Amino acid sequence: MTIKVGAIGTGGMAGGHFRNLDRFEEVEFAAFCDISAERTANRCNEYGGNPYTDHREMFDKEDLDAVYICTPPFAHGDQELAACERQIPIFVEKPIATQMAIAEQINWAIQEKGIITSVGYHWRYQDNADYARSVLADQKIVGALGYWMGGMPGVAWWRVREQSGGQHVEQTTHIFDLCRYLVDSEVIAVHGLAVQGNTRDVANYDVDDMSVVNISFANGVVANIASACMLKGWGRVKLEVFCNGLVIDISGGSISINRDGETENYSNEVNGYTHEDRVFIDAVISGDSSEIRSPYSDALKTLQLTLAASQSFETGQPVFLS
Ligand SMILES: NC(=O)c1ccc[n+]([C@@H]2O[C@H](COP(=O)([O-])OP(=O)(O)OC[C@H]3O[C@@H](n4cnc5c(N)ncnc54)[C@H](O)[C@@H]3O)[C@@H](O)[C@H]2O)c1
Repeated sequence: MTIKVGAIGTGGMAGGHFRNLDRFEEVEFAAFCDISAERTANRCNEYGGNPYTDHREMFDKEDLDAVYICTPPFAHGDQELAACERQIPIFVEKPIATQMAIAEQINWAIQEKGIITSVGYHWRYQDNADYARSVLADQKIVGALGYWMGGMPGVAWWRVREQSGGQHVEQTTHIFDLCRYLVDSEVIAVHGLAVQGNTRDVANYDVDDMSVVNISFANGVVANIASACMLKGWGRVKLEVFCNGLVIDISGGSISINRDGETENYSNEVNGYTHEDRVFIDAVISGDSSEIRSPYSDALKTLQLTLAASQSFETGQPVFLS
């Protein structure tokens, strides 16, 4: 069976997915679309397929089985809606948008047409996440601490608040999402604080330098997640989960579990990016989306959490989610 894949947005992250897909024998690259004609031409030279700079023209001319959407956060909207009109399964990178209204409109179209979707929350597909969930199955989580303290990605749109949403919406979203995945309960309240104005050597920079967000979950768990993007050559990214007598410490490539003072360490063997691509393509082939760990409707809740934090930074007030 051949799965004809089209792609919208062919930049850095898309390149990672293309390398994975290229190794899957069922996948044929049918088309690449980007507002940069040079980028689409380069991808077509590398993988074959037809070049487009207009996604609607691509959808009209190609008979696609799936589409990868890896555009920047501010650019989402019509690409997903056009895919839904044609009933095409969608893989879309996180964060799914910078505004709830756009994401909710897309989610409504997805639900109406019953489209298979997967969002690029690859931490959910790492074996440290599996291991954490298996350990937590018979535990009661009390709280969690997470952070993404690092530097700023080099792409021009990232440093502009309207285009990326800032660090907590853009990169720390992985930690907010993993926290939701492990706590497995609805967020009921969010309160955050943020600081700006300490980065003066980057043109067009108007995002927060650092923020902290308190979260309260319906099952009683409390969490705090911090973000920073003004660091250079230093980074720390992790989620720690606390139970009675148990601490789970998850970073990008490993997990450590401390039980009553004794620590066990494990390194990941599964690459989350490869696994999420394989699971998505398998769902497209079989029509069964049950193995997808981050459908669009669930990623919508992570966006809602991070945008509630943005609102709280501005007003100084907690935001209560239904
Ligand atoms: N899951 C992860 O770990 C991870 C890592 C990096 C990036 N990402 C996400 O991937 C997305 C893209 O990031 P990136 O680093 O690849 O950015 P990028 O700037 O390198 O690539 C984005 C591409 O989209 C194109 N583009 C912009 N608007 C478009 C439009 N309307 N139609 C078609 N193409 C358009 C740009 O020309 C560019 O080629 C972001 O949402 C980012 O958060 C995810």
